Amino acid sequence: MTPEELDAAISKAADYLKVARRVAVLTGAGVSAESGIPTFRASDGLWEGHRIEDVASPDGFYRDPKLVWQFYGGRRANVATAKPNPGHLALVALEDRWGEDFTLVTQNVDGLHQDAGSRRVLEIHGSLRRTLCLKCDEVQDRGLGPLGDAPECHCGGRLRPDIVWFGEGLPVDIWEEAQIKASECDVLLVVGTSAVVHPAASLIPIARQTRTPGAKVIEVNMTRTEASALADVGLYGPSGQVLPRLVKRLGA
Ligand code: OAD
Repeated sequence: MTPEELDAAISKAADYLKVARRVAVLTGAGVSAESGIPTFRASDGLWEGHRIEDVASPDGFYRDPKLVWQFYGGRRANVATAKPNPGHLALVALEDRWGEDFTLVTQNVDGLHQDAGSRRVLEIHGSLRRTLCLKCDEVQDRGLGPLGDAPECHCGGRLRPDIVWFGEGLPVDIWEEAQIKASECDVLLVVGTSAVVHPAASLIPIARQTRTPGAKVIEVNMTRTEASALADVGLYGPSGQVLPRLVKRLGA
């Protein structure tokens, strides 16, 4: 995309937003890339040197919980030193403008949206900061300090990260609310996601097709993705630069 094309696309996106009563956002790993958090889909098919099924599935955890905790320990330490970037902050500015009529649905588990100041956040894939006890089911916010490679609950049960792994369902209430917000919005911003993981990516057709006329879809990404064919406008560039420009154009 040339600088002129990007500028025209930002204007078009701002025009959609100006007349929107309700706004929803779907974010993925790309929104945190400029905070130094690696995205998922590297070309080697590995996730920081691991096969995804070894570190992000119930079977992997059953086979080798220590490996899984070492992996998540590394990810927790990485997030502990990360700060929200201007893309996260621009989404806070949008929430300030739309208030109750704004919802941010995130696939990210890093908590950087909340660190930036976002309040209406639906974490559909869980959080790196929380643990889930396999014995008493208690979910606890443990922050980002070290937990070791075999953390236990106060009840003596084994803890796992409170993250949705491959083969698992999404948290029912949160996912239901995300679908409702997507179906009710007038604009859906899709930021920094490859849009290949379902059901998260299905929020895009839900936003477009549940009502007539459907929501306008604005994609913000480095490149075109699976979502691009459903987007009314694509802003192709780093979200940490593009989103602040969009907010500025809106006059928010
Ligand atoms: P991916 O790694 O699949 O995609 C990241 C997207 O961000 C890609 O489309 C990149 O082009 C884009 N990107 C990279 N840097 C960017 C930047 N600075 N600005 C804008 N876009 C940028 O990550 P997700 O789509 O989030 O699930 O992956 C979805 C799910 O797959 C994750 O939530 C995770 C994973 O399995 C679970 O852990 C359950």
